[in-house]
Amino acid sequence: MGKDADDVGRLAAEIVLAVVRGNPAAVLGLATGSSPLPVYMALAASALDFSRVSGFALDEYLGLPDGHPQSYAEVIRTVVTEPLGMDPRRVHVPDPHGTDHAAHAADYDAALAAVGGVDVQILGVGSNGHIGFNEPGSAFDSCTRVVPLAERTRQDNARFFDTPDHVPRECLTQGIGTIFGARQLLLVAHGGHKAEPVRRALQGPVTEDFPASIIQRHPHVTVVLDDAAASLLGDAAAV
Ligand code: F6R
Repeated sequence: MGKDADDVGRLAAEIVLAVVRGNPAAVLGLATGSSPLPVYMALAASALDFSRVSGFALDEYLGLPDGHPQSYAEVIRTVVTEPLGMDPRRVHVPDPHGTDHAAHAADYDAALAAVGGVDVQILGVGSNGHIGFNEPGSAFDSCTRVVPLAERTRQDNARFFDTPDHVPRECLTQGIGTIFGARQLLLVAHGGHKAEPVRRALQGPVTEDFPASIIQRHPHVTVVLDDAAASLLGDAAAV
């Protein structure tokens, strides 16, 4: 546990750095949004060589033009690939611009399998419990696919767009089954607005109605929280 977002970034980055030190060609699972930003900043500040590391983003909006600053391809490029000095050919984001999304989704899962799966998956949690964009009701064994964004998610993410109407309505997301296949999950959260989602993820019932609760079943999970995000956890589950 850390005091604030910077501590969360530093502590979570230590875990990623240990994985990459052990395997300079490690595969990272990459979340976007606000939660992992301090982690990426701490990784970028390290002197480690990421040039052989691969990355697979969790998700991408449908309907944004190529190069849109809020597309996750752009976000990953600007906050991960370039600051960490990763090879862009090794960094993958679901491509929303083709015509056959189902085929692309299957190819994405196949590409992930072909590199041996994700070594450490960085995760944030949505206020409604989504991981990736697996909204409540997503099957625990789901694969990468197109999903409609929940209204709650669209409202939460409106802060990144000019108007709430500009928030896309659909996305391509890794499935919960895809995410669960990672060898290690690394959930990061900071801020009081994450306290309730974190509590439900870690201490609530394991249910598809709150997708992040699946992490309770994963054999290798690390949760890095600041004081505010941890504030609703009982002592027994303090991390
Ligand atoms: C984004 C993603 C989402 C976010 C979640 C929390 O790639 O996978 O699950 O992690 O929406 O977003 P923030 O961190 O912006 O609160």
